[in-house]
Amino acid sequence: MAGRSSEEVVARFERRWAFVVAAVVAIVFAVIIFTGLHWVAQPPSNVETIDATRLHLAGEFVEANLGTALQPDGVATVRVIAQQYSFVPSCIVVPTDTPIVIRATSPDVMHGFLIAGTNVNSMVVPGFVAEVRTRFDKPGDHVMPCHEYCSVGHEGMWARVKVIDRAEYARVYGGQQRASCVSQ
Ligand code: CUA
Repeated sequence: MAGRSSEEVVARFERRWAFVVAAVVAIVFAVIIFTGLHWVAQPPSNVETIDATRLHLAGEFVEANLGTALQPDGVATVRVIAQQYSFVPSCIVVPTDTPIVIRATSPDVMHGFLIAGTNVNSMVVPGFVAEVRTRFDKPGDHVMPCHEYCSVGHEGMWARVKVIDRAEYARVYGGQQRASCVSQ
């Protein structure tokens, strides 16, 4: 009798351990599945978000704030709206030999932009601010097309990028808060 009851005790312990091991495995699986789904549903870190429905009402991307702004630290910040089917401003002017930060966002659907022969190439997703840093060594005219199919007017969506000499930029646009070459 005594031997049999000790077998039962061992069996009970084994069942208990089997249950604990199964619970640990289940928890590990649950954590893997939860984190997997969580990070698939999240953008990567350090992505700037913005309310796409209020761009024209307030904040960084109001119309008066679009274009090129020379910052006190010497950086030229270019703010652009990509929308069906144009860029605003449609002609971007920047100086040579100056660090340039392009900040773009969209009020409607997904767009993209690139400047051939440079590192400028980004998608523009509604609700997010796309930021690209670049620099131009010499003056010249570039075309900046939308490279993300955004519906029927996609082919006609592009902007001009005019790079002008640093000194000339200071002379022509130095006094402007937000420069663009739209009317030229
Ligand atoms: Cu915007 Cu294609």
